[in-house]
Amino acid sequence: MLEPTYITETQFINPLDLSRELKEGLLSEFAFISPKFLYDNLGSHLFTAITLLPEYYPTKTEKSIFESNKLEIAAALGLNNGLIDLGAGNCQKAESLFTALRPASYTAIDFSLDYLKEILPQLQNKYPEIAMFGIGLDFSKNLQLPTSVVSSGHNFFYPGSSIGNFNIDEAKHLLKQIKSALKGGGLLIGVDLMKEDRILLDAYDDPLKLTAAFNLNILRVVNTLIHSNFDVSHFKHSIKINHPLQRVELYLEALRDTTVTFGDNVRSFKYGELIHTENSHKYTHESIKSLLSSAGFESFTTWTDSKNYFALIYAR
Ligand code: AVJ
Repeated sequence: MLEPTYITETQFINPLDLSRELKEGLLSEFAFISPKFLYDNLGSHLFTAITLLPEYYPTKTEKSIFESNKLEIAAALGLNNGLIDLGAGNCQKAESLFTALRPASYTAIDFSLDYLKEILPQLQNKYPEIAMFGIGLDFSKNLQLPTSVVSSGHNFFYPGSSIGNFNIDEAKHLLKQIKSALKGGGLLIGVDLMKEDRILLDAYDDPLKLTAAFNLNILRVVNTLIHSNFDVSHFKHSIKINHPLQRVELYLEALRDTTVTFGDNVRSFKYGELIHTENSHKYTHESIKSLLSSAGFESFTTWTDSKNYFALIYAR
């Protein structure tokens, strides 16, 4: 059986850095937890379930854009180049392009290496001609690829509007790093576009409560990483659409006064107090192009869907 190669040096995700980051966020006046902590193995499965909800339009809209424009996308990216997938998750988005792109290699990067290890072996067996690599990497602050990854002749793939998790400065920082890692290739990026509140509310606060489970699971991840004692039943999922900042914000809201301890630290939450867990920025065609330009990209090819819900851009 052909196996993918995993690049697993512990330096890529340092548990000490993660617990320091978590503690800082929890002890801030307005508590926050970075959305990357949503993605342990269970969280990755929950996110995959969310992508199957009829209300969660981004994944299926992006998929329809891939499907309607496969040949053009392949022509833009070029055949046989390597593909580096940032935040690969279940790898389905990349897979949907394999037949058209025929990449020589596929490098899947994700915060959850456990989840990649569930997904990649099957993919490698299905596509034995593609050399596959799996990397557990936290690129939310810096994109530092292991030296064994050669990015020349590669395209980067950043689908799903994951860029939406970052504020503008953070996004610019990451995009600049991608631009300088690109040697010859380009970036194929998916971005969610601003739309009516009703559609956003259904997508981020769905009636089956999958998004609530996904959001609340972050407290269990935190409990595991910093040995805290969050009681998940003391919090509920809540969202807010922030129009000035063009984003959906996810929170966990305390259902009662509650106190959490971790190490020597104590943090109390009042009834109604919020923990900020995620931003999901929404762009316009203009705002995403101006962001990409500010990061050094110069040429853009854009594909969108008939409702103009989502944009797929190949930037170089
Ligand atoms: C993976 C960041 C693109 O913002 O839509 C889905 C995550 N959060 N439902 C998004 C998410 C709640 C998702 N991204």
